[in-house]
Amino acid sequence: MAETSFENLLGKYQILQIASKIADERKEEFFLIGGFVRDTLLKRERNEMDFLVVGDALAFATELSKTLGVDKLTVYKNFGTAHFNYSNLFLEFVGARKESYSRNSRNPKVERGTLDDDLNRRDFTINCLAISLNQSSFGKLIDKFNGVEDINQKIIRTPLDPAKTFDDDPLRIMRAFRFAAQLNFEIESSVFNATKEMAERLRIVSQERTTDEFLKILASPKPSIGLKLLFESGVMKVIFPEIANLGGVEQRKEYHHKDVFQHTCIVVDNVASTSDNLWLRFAALVHDIAKPQTKKFIEGIGWSFHGHEELGARMMKSIFTRMKLPLTKQEYIEKLIRLHLRPIALVDEQVTDSAIRRLIVSAGEDLDDLIVLCRADITSKNPAKVNRYLENYNIVMQKVQDVREKDQLRAFQSPVRGEEIMRVCNIPPSKLVGDIKTAIEDAILDGKIGNNYEEAYEYFLKVKDHFLKDHK
Ligand code: CTP
Repeated sequence: MAETSFENLLGKYQILQIASKIADERKEEFFLIGGFVRDTLLKRERNEMDFLVVGDALAFATELSKTLGVDKLTVYKNFGTAHFNYSNLFLEFVGARKESYSRNSRNPKVERGTLDDDLNRRDFTINCLAISLNQSSFGKLIDKFNGVEDINQKIIRTPLDPAKTFDDDPLRIMRAFRFAAQLNFEIESSVFNATKEMAERLRIVSQERTTDEFLKILASPKPSIGLKLLFESGVMKVIFPEIANLGGVEQRKEYHHKDVFQHTCIVVDNVASTSDNLWLRFAALVHDIAKPQTKKFIEGIGWSFHGHEELGARMMKSIFTRMKLPLTKQEYIEKLIRLHLRPIALVDEQVTDSAIRRLIVSAGEDLDDLIVLCRADITSKNPAKVNRYLENYNIVMQKVQDVREKDQLRAFQSPVRGEEIMRVCNIPPSKLVGDIKTAIEDAILDGKIGNNYEEAYEYFLKVKDHFLKDHK
């Protein structure tokens, strides 16, 4: 496997040939490494390439960018990395290193190293693949830890003892779950055990990095894969305790097979199957977040969670602040939590237009998202019930449409106003003015004339004598 050649594939990227010549001139070993190689084998589109230089990566990137005529090169001296954009590609350069992280700090001690050292310090075998780009071995795959096999087996494994790999950077615990969710891979059991043992170590990682990985899990095709791993490993308790608390909270009697956490996972997956909107997925995740606090047993009915939508909405402020989530999204999430039970309460025939109008106003431009969430919230296993509940939302949305149409008609007025009709016809305020106005409005609604002043005025001049004659 290690002899697999990528020469053909790489032929299509002219930049690799140019960089390869520079590497040979500089007498430095040069590799394409990590995510690009992994994603190429997985046939996943990607416009980001990571390069490893066994030598001076910053000088290398500077020389290459000059050769390519790129003038915007970004250099992070502290991290020893440089990057630039070139023909829709994001190119990142890093020097091979030996790296170890001290236990109480996230700042690595970095020393120059060989390719081998660099591969040893990476997170997962599927990310330890490198393709040589020097002329003599152009396209040769280096697969020290059988990463290709792990890709084929769909398995997340660490190159070294998982405890060491996670200890070096505990964020990798989150990354393991993120890759499992993104790629639909399994986590090898010793690796999963290490995530359990080391969950607490995530507390030393910056909130921004943890939240970033968490959101990537939510953005993946089936977020429940990652959410369940977070939960089962105990990591959820560390990074998002309010969600961990949903586990074991029983629902109503007939749902007792599903606790609130399992229900939430299904709702998130349901939203994910119809929408890429990350914040709608987040709303699905937190829509029942206050159920544990509001849970009460009512004889003859079962568990009730009265007021969980209001309390849940109020919990967002501290969660957003603590998790450093974008505050611009907080109001949207609060709104969806607060309103998630409202539409279903509007199914009955007796519901008034004003109740529908209040929903339209409260939800505003997010009404469609709210309905996606409500539909996703139906997690019954009984297809007949599911269909009936879905139909209820069709009924509500039909009412919304009817009210909107009525309100539009009410707001609609003839572009030729009453005063003008009175002045031109020389008549006092009277029913006749109203009749003429209605005739103009009907002509517009019937499509005889356009809804604009010019056509309405012309039509008015044409019909006014007919009305005046009848009233003489
Ligand atoms: N890496 C690591 N430990 C981390 C982060 C990254 O070992 N905590 C290594 C991995 O080898 C990874 C490479 O650095 O492949 C690049 O990291 P990054 O760009 O974050 O991940 P990718 O694998 O490129 O995947 P993606 O872009 O999908 O996040």
